Amino acid sequence: MKIIVAGKGGAGKTTVSGTLARVLSRAGEEVIAVDADVNPMLGISLGVGMDETERLAGIRESLQQGHIEHAHDVEALVATFGTTAPDGVQLVVGSRMDGPDSGCACCGVNPDQLLNELDGEGRVVIGDLEAGIGIVTRMDTGNIDLVLVVTNATSKSIEVARRAADSAAGRGAEVLVIANRIGTDDDLEEIRAALGEHEIIVVPEDDAIRRADEEGLAPLDGPRDGPGMVALLGLGERLALRAAA
Ligand SMILES: Nc1ncnc2c1ncn2[C@@H]1O[C@H](COP(=O)(O)OP(=O)(O)OP(=O)(O)O)[C@@H](O)[C@H]1O
Ligand SMILES: [Mg+2]
Repeated sequence: MKIIVAGKGGAGKTTVSGTLARVLSRAGEEVIAVDADVNPMLGISLGVGMDETERLAGIRESLQQGHIEHAHDVEALVATFGTTAPDGVQLVVGSRMDGPDSGCACCGVNPDQLLNELDGEGRVVIGDLEAGIGIVTRMDTGNIDLVLVVTNATSKSIEVARRAADSAAGRGAEVLVIANRIGTDDDLEEIRAALGEHEIIVVPEDDAIRRADEEGLAPLDGPRDGPGMVALLGLGERLALRAAA
């Protein structure tokens, strides 16, 4: 199963990607989490910490300086340059591998290609995209099983989500909207008004999630009884059943 997570900056893409990756891995799936953001933060939300996240992001620079060997296909790239995050998730940072050299999986592969080429058969590939709708409109949706579109209740976030959802659904992809950080009924109504044709999963505002991020920790390693985490755990279980089917 291949999942991509899209939305406006700050909507909650990384929180959702990191948490779902770990829940799916705990459920027994082999999970590869791809950080496709130019400002890679998925390691934080997965719980590998700031140092390891920085190290992974620096691999591109090391390659250019010839300090480490190059990989020759995307699977080797994940094996060589990935890291094992808590619960056994394989994390690979794709965002700084978009150099001009072609024919080399390390240097010639950009995050879109990495996500396109990684096989979702028999495992879960989950891609935390950069903010906006760029990658969504560029990606081949043919081999993507699910596009999670994350939005807050602000009008700009909703507008980006609407465009991302329309683009993906218009090309045949299955879209699930995540209405994140919902505090009031009005918040949800605004999202429903713009995105009501898609299924909407409500993830309430959750102080524990916000605090975990402030401390550089994975939300899943903090208290898990807050309303937002309960909703994410529920979604994770649902996706795990689907992945196992
Ligand atoms: N349900 C929630 N309740 C409270 N805070 C949340 C919730 N979801 C996300 N946040 C907080 O919102 C902020 C943005 O979340 P996150 O980094 O996941 O967004 P993003 O879409 O990945 O952002 P970017 O576009 O910068 O990559 C973080 O501080 C995070 O802790
Ligand atoms: Mg992010």
